[in-house]
This record gives sequence, C-alpha cells and structure tokens, in this order.
Amino acid sequence: MGKGLVDAFGRTISYLRVSVTDRCDLRCFYCMPEAFNDYEVPDNWLTFAETERVVGAFAALGVNRIRLTGGEPLVRHGLPALAGRLAAIPGIDDLSLSTNANRLARDAQALRQAGVRRLNVSLDSLQPRRFQLITKGKLEKVMAGLMAAKEAGFAPIKINMVVMQGINDDEVLDMVEFCLTHGFTLRFIETMPMGHTGRSARDAHYISLQTIKARLAERYNLLPSIMDGGAAQYFTIGDTGLRIGFITPVSQHFCATCNRVRLGVDGTLYLCLGHKHSVALRPLLRAGISDEGLQSTIRKALWLKPREHAFNDRNTQVLRFMSMTGG
Ligand code: GTP
Ligand code: 5AD
Ligand code: SF4
Repeated sequence: MGKGLVDAFGRTISYLRVSVTDRCDLRCFYCMPEAFNDYEVPDNWLTFAETERVVGAFAALGVNRIRLTGGEPLVRHGLPALAGRLAAIPGIDDLSLSTNANRLARDAQALRQAGVRRLNVSLDSLQPRRFQLITKGKLEKVMAGLMAAKEAGFAPIKINMVVMQGINDDEVLDMVEFCLTHGFTLRFIETMPMGHTGRSARDAHYISLQTIKARLAERYNLLPSIMDGGAAQYFTIGDTGLRIGFITPVSQHFCATCNRVRLGVDGTLYLCLGHKHSVALRPLLRAGISDEGLQSTIRKALWLKPREHAFNDRNTQVLRFMSMTGG
C-alpha cells in the first residue's frame, strides 16, 4: 500500500486536529451550555504517550500538520510538554494551537519554545461588556494572552471572530483596525449549528459572510490571497499586508477540499465535524495494538469519511457540542 491517507472521495488527509480536553474555562454561548459539566472522565483521556503514539501513526501515514484543540487546550495540565513531544515526531512539520487565550499569558513562551509555530485565537468582541456577555470571560485576560503571544513570536497569529447578527456584526471594521495595528490575520467565521441551543441559536444570529464580504468590499480593495491551513478563503486588504479569511461552512462549504480528521480527548477518531462517523482508538491502544495494526485501522477508518457535512439539512440534530471536537 502506498504512503498517504486518501479517502473514498479522493481527498488526501494531511491534517489532524487533536483535542486534548473537552473542558473549557470560558462559555461562549454558541459553543457550550452555561451549566455544562458532563465531561469525559480523566481515566478515559488519552495519556500524552497514547496521543504521541496516535500522532506517530498518522505521521507515518503522511500527515504533517497537527493542530492542538480543546475545549480549551491550555486547561490540560502540562500542554507545553505534550507539544514538545509531538513537535519532535518525524514528519510533523507544522504544529499549531487553537486557543481562547484566557491562560495564554502564562504559557505563550513555553509553547513557542516547545515548537508550536502558528496560533489561532478566538476573539469575538473588543468591548469588555460584550465580550463578557458572549463568553462569560474577561477581555482583559485574553488581551494579555494575545500580547504575550505576539511577544513570544508566533507567526502567524490568526484571530477567529464568529460573526453574529445583532451581537457583534457591527464590530467587523473595529476588528480590521485592531488586526492591522497588531499584525494579526483576521478570520470571520459563520456560526455552525453546534451550540447549546443548536439550530435555533444559529437561526437567531446566523449571518452569511457573503454579506460581510460585500460590506468590506465597499470600503477596501480585497485581493485574493492564500495562506497555510485549509478552511478559510483569504484576501489581502489593498497593500496593507493585512490578510482576512472567510470561513463559510454554511453559505459556501469547503468539504470538497477537506484535508482533516479529528481525534477526541478520549481517543475517538472523528471523520467529519458535522457527522457521527467515528472509530474508537483508545480500546485498541489499551489492548496493545501494534503500530501496523494502528496504521491499518486508521487507513480503514478513512473510508468512513463522509462527502460533506449536513449543517444545511433542516432536520439535522446537534450531534455534539463544538467543545468536544475543538471545532
Ligand atoms: P488553520 O490551520 O489556521 O487554517 O486553522 P483552522 O481555521 O482550520 O482552525 P481553527 O481551530 O482556527 O478553526 C476556525 C474555524 O474553522 C472554527 O469555527 C472551526 O470549527 C472551523 N473549522 C475547522 N475545520 C473545519 C472543517 O473541517 N469543517 C468545518 N465545517 N469547519 C471547520
Ligand atoms: N460555529 C462556528 N464556530 C464555532 N466555534 C465554536 N463554536 C462554533 C460554532 N458553533 C469556534 C470558536 C473557535 C474555533 C476553534 O471554533 O470560536 O475560534
Ligand atoms: Fe471555550 Fe472555545 Fe467553546 Fe468558547 S468556543 S466555550 S472558548 S471551547
């Protein structure tokens, strides 16, 4: 069998998103219910050694990009140590992290030194009161984390803004200015029906990013651009060097070029963000599966990867909260 993971639709999988915890220290209303505490028990978390083994198997199969996700990954004790172990795996040449930055001031330097190169930070508002309403957290702390990340030299730093009608859609231009000032890349994201009230929450605040793009195009010269990763479509704003990405899973999905799968904290391999198709790797790991066995299980699992998500199907139920697979 040749090297490289290819699914039934001819897509090559080169990117694994590794969720290191399903817990979070914030409560973005579109992501997790406020009182949620039905977490995976620690005995079922993959240990760092188990995670390293699974990532090693993916690397042997041609995956070269790893993104650490949560919940909030920095809630997992010792994350920089895990990052260092994953960065050292032969074949892994892009290690990145998606974080809410709430605890980033503490860990930024250690993560950078461990080999994390790229950082994506959630930031939905620059207004403290509004930020608190959306996330239940303090903007001040997140800003401190973000500035520590800038100081530590991550490049690029991408700001993830979930744009919601009537909640923060009036802050799009402020966010452009903010990212211009700091040299961050800005990504706008459409809400997917995975939050606490699922479809009704999405319907209440969903706004197509095609509207936002049109608004920006009236003011700025948007030039098509490209960037590392996969889910976003990028533009630069004139000659400013500022890159803006649009992540449009609902209005214009990108499933045909999907390059990723996800590993849950409990060792479940999820083949698609928007479907239940999965394979439980933890029982196999704990039963002593060989490296060859693990690789062959992963190869076979790929055939379960669906063609596309079903977020636009009105009958679809919320399968799991976003915090369980880290987006
Ligand atoms: P890059 O590697 O920098 O491109 O990261 P990313 O944009 O893939 O990752 P990030 O964790 O920052 O996620 C940004 C948004 O994209 C989140 O809302 C994710 O849920 C969404 N996203 C990431 N991958 C997928 C995907 O495969 N399908 C869908 N529908 N959304 C995705
Ligand atoms: N729809 C779109 N994006 C979401 N995220 C969390 N929940 C949702 C949702 N329902 C985003 C976060 C974070 C990223 C990893 O996923 O804002 O930036
Ligand atoms: Fe936590 Fe991220 Fe979900 Fe917000 S979007 S509650 S920061 S996991």
